[in-house]
Amino acid sequence: MTRVAVLAGTGSAVPARVVTNEQLAGRMDTSDDWIRSRTGIAERRMVEPGTATSDLAVAAGRRALRSAGLHRVGAVVVATATPDYQCPATGPIVAAGLGLGEIPAFDVGAVCSGFLYALATGSGLIASGVAEQVLVVGAEAFTTIIDPTDRNTAPLFGDGAGAVVLRAGDPEEPGALLGLNLGSDGLLADLIMVPAGGSRQRSHGNVAAPEDHYFTMRGREVFKHAVRRMEESSRTVLEQVGWQLAEVDWLVAHQANIRILHAVADQLRLPRERAVANLDRYGNTSAASIPLALDEAAGRGLFTPGDRILLTAFGAGATWGAAALTWPDLSNGPDLGNGPALSNGPGLSSAWELAAAAMVGPAQL
Ligand code: ACO
Repeated sequence: MTRVAVLAGTGSAVPARVVTNEQLAGRMDTSDDWIRSRTGIAERRMVEPGTATSDLAVAAGRRALRSAGLHRVGAVVVATATPDYQCPATGPIVAAGLGLGEIPAFDVGAVCSGFLYALATGSGLIASGVAEQVLVVGAEAFTTIIDPTDRNTAPLFGDGAGAVVLRAGDPEEPGALLGLNLGSDGLLADLIMVPAGGSRQRSHGNVAAPEDHYFTMRGREVFKHAVRRMEESSRTVLEQVGWQLAEVDWLVAHQANIRILHAVADQLRLPRERAVANLDRYGNTSAASIPLALDEAAGRGLFTPGDRILLTAFGAGATWGAAALTWPDLSNGPDLGNGPALSNGPGLSSAWELAAAAMVGPAQL
């Protein structure tokens, strides 16, 4: 029997601080109407001073471990573009924060496609026998690299973390990760960039304009590449696993823009209501967006064991990817995590718990 990665648990965490479109309109030349109509975003979460990516990752990781009924895993992979430090990686900090011992732990950098790259890495660690279970986290304090006065970027991004536990299993089981497709085009590196902080800038004598430490994006071009690459990658992975488009139950795509989600669903001829969306409340949380959406949708009971799920993302690099899995039977349900050993960090809530508390209806398109 082929050994594959099987989804065994999900978790998420978002900061308590909500920043609405109206609040942004009070400090830059924009409006709630512009942001909603161009992006579908109504509000986003923002870390308080002192909260870093690993704090969100640890809180989401705790939830995922509890959902999987595990206290130990064989490895931790963290996807992030906003690590706590340039050196060291955030993975070991997360593993230590979770009390997981001296296991392999590292970061994967593929920005908004980071979770799919990390999923592929976790799956590879399992397939190769390096680990029996892997905690895969997508976490971002993304607002820390956003110019708070830039109307081109500030409305789009938010902070949060999502996590899944993968375990070794077989392809027939619900939850099996059946196929993955990844790609990149470094010729498009300047489409989305933080120009300063890396060796390219530092090698010039470590002098940078303050604004060069902020995120820049050529949004209109990114939009077109994102739709095309997510469609292509999705088709490739479906072919790989032998699913017809009509057999896909749910599309969980990177949450960048409602218009991008609509366009990808339309190109794939999937009904828009099958595209899971929560970007209205969280904006684009980069590597966190897919696991955050998965955890929230699972918490709302959107998925039935055996459902066929298609994941896809596009991000800086340029990078892109898609994955096909069936939904597992997480019969214990997503966990509220109130036990002292596994409680949330201060000011952090799980996405699905918030949705449930707010009586938010299904947010699919
Ligand atoms: N409020 C008001 N006006 C604005 C704002 C704002 N917040 N932002 C831009 N505008 C203006 C522009 O200046 C422009 O004005 P002009 O016509 O006078 O020049 C006008 O609105 C239209 O701008 P566009 O860029 O054409 O707007 P568009 O409809 O393309 O929406 C957006 C912009 C939301 C950025 C969209 O292009 C987008 O979502 N792009 C993709 C983002 C994405 O997918 N990112 C994923 C990868 S990100 C990562 O990897 C981290």
